[in-house]
Amino acid sequence: MTNIKATNITWHEGHVDRDEREKLLNQKGALIWMTGLSGSGKSTIAYTLEHALVQRGHLAYVLDGDNIRHGLNKNLGFSAEDRTENIRRIGEVGKLYADTGIITITAFISPYQADRAIARETVGNDDFFEVFCDTPLDVCEERDPKGLYKKARAGEIKGFTGIDDPYEAPEKPESIIDTSKLSPQEAAVTLCEMLENAGKIQALKD
Ligand code: ADX
Repeated sequence: MTNIKATNITWHEGHVDRDEREKLLNQKGALIWMTGLSGSGKSTIAYTLEHALVQRGHLAYVLDGDNIRHGLNKNLGFSAEDRTENIRRIGEVGKLYADTGIITITAFISPYQADRAIARETVGNDDFFEVFCDTPLDVCEERDPKGLYKKARAGEIKGFTGIDDPYEAPEKPESIIDTSKLSPQEAAVTLCEMLENAGKIQALKD
């Protein structure tokens, strides 16, 4: 883990704690960590879930890999070191968001098991829900929504996940979404149930 570089820094406690924020929001903070290949449906499910939660009166927010790489992580590429730093920062941001009481959904390939384990440790097991978007490579490649697999196969992109760069599937994720069986709406329902079962949101009354 990255050590603290600065010296002479002091931690300050605020006057409002997480519990108070969560009461205000009528929910508990959580981080839903979507992982899977490019084109596996992470972002689609993340935004569908965000919408479903907001419609139920909850505050939810998506941190999406492609979007975050336009801002916070614009200085990172796709080398192993940069991907690790990308995920480390999102783990830290996710920890802050969970502390606000917001239900955050991250959509990053996050190909390395060790990096996801660090994110879990950073955020804390009670708040961290790893969701594997289990879509086979041939289906992702067939979809190819951004035309990147085609470019990778043609050698125009080097180090593309699933083609000439590794993806390590999660061993014990909290949920596995088989996108060949579930629509994004059905996946969102499954993930809302996961949050209900963990006591993060209340179940809908009939
Ligand atoms: S991660 O590996 O560091 O977690 P991240 O989710 O932020 O990746 O970004 C992945 C997105 O960047 C892909 O959906 C794709 O649009 C784009 N991309 C560009 N180059 C690559 C590459 N070499 N490997 C994977 N994705 C890439």
